[in-house]
Amino acid sequence: MLSQAALHAEYGGVYPNLAKREHEKNLPILYREFADVPCDAVAVTVGPGLEPALWQGVEFAKRVAKERGVPLLPTNHMEAHLISSLVEQGELKNVQLPVLALLISGGHTEFVLMRNWFEYEVVGKTLDDAVGECFDKVARMIGLPYPGGPHISKIAKTATTKSAITLPRPMIGSNTCDVSFSGLKTAALYSLRDKTLTDEEKAAFAAEFEEAVGDVFVHKTRKALEDTGARTFVIGGGVAANSYLRERLQKLIADEFDDIEFRLPDLAITGDNAIMIAQCALARALSGKNDESSTELRAIGNLSIALET
Ligand code: KG4
Ligand code: ZN
Repeated sequence: MLSQAALHAEYGGVYPNLAKREHEKNLPILYREFADVPCDAVAVTVGPGLEPALWQGVEFAKRVAKERGVPLLPTNHMEAHLISSLVEQGELKNVQLPVLALLISGGHTEFVLMRNWFEYEVVGKTLDDAVGECFDKVARMIGLPYPGGPHISKIAKTATTKSAITLPRPMIGSNTCDVSFSGLKTAALYSLRDKTLTDEEKAAFAAEFEEAVGDVFVHKTRKALEDTGARTFVIGGGVAANSYLRERLQKLIADEFDDIEFRLPDLAITGDNAIMIAQCALARALSGKNDESSTELRAIGNLSIALET
């Protein structure tokens, strides 16, 4: 596996041109490793994401598909998080519709409803920052490296006291399924100003931060499930690896929605990976819902999962 995480860590975030250059360099290396493997189709992410990086992938995939004479399957990154999270033991079956998905990543935070297979409606979303970005920024404020989400999670588990700092639970009482994280980020910044925390205080602060995020998602998930009448709930995206959030949501479903099935994705597929793209493209292809319009296929940075907008 090739990852750019260590490289981006030096800069404290993902830099579009750096990401593009790395793709340019690494895609052929990665491809050579699989040169002898037979393939029936090439699936490629067309969006959403950083456009220069997406372009590299799309152009490369076009060449490979042409060389091998196989179809090229354009795939939506967020849809791939959703579909791959629904897969159980390698199979996408026994899924009761409608499905409500909470997609939480570094660039997105949204509640997506799937009433019919591969048709999506966004029923709530962040009005500003994505929750993963908030994790990363708050981690940075207390001196943790990028990507900060897993580090926050790790130190929060070691907390033995309650933090003296309390953080807000933005929009928790609002009558929509929308969320907001920029206020939480700013509150964290202000509360840390002119302070040097001990390791124990950092751990307690990380736990308070996770609790604030958890409270928001528990409230909004409850509302979204009640509003939509979903039969299945699933979470996906990098932040879906967070063990505290997983536990909070598991408890919500067990305590209040025992007729709803909660599909918790394997940790290995929560963060960005190639399997989720292949799984999503395959599922669509098998259902006959993949458009193989390889000639006009292009990268779209702000591609939505929903039909309209
Ligand atoms: O889906 P993903 O791999 O990439 C995007 O599509 O953005 O999500 C990356 C995000 C980062 O913000 C990272 O800090 C966060 O997922 N993340 C976590 C955890 N593992 C990854 N956030 C909280 N707790 C974790 N355990
Ligand atoms: Zn992602």
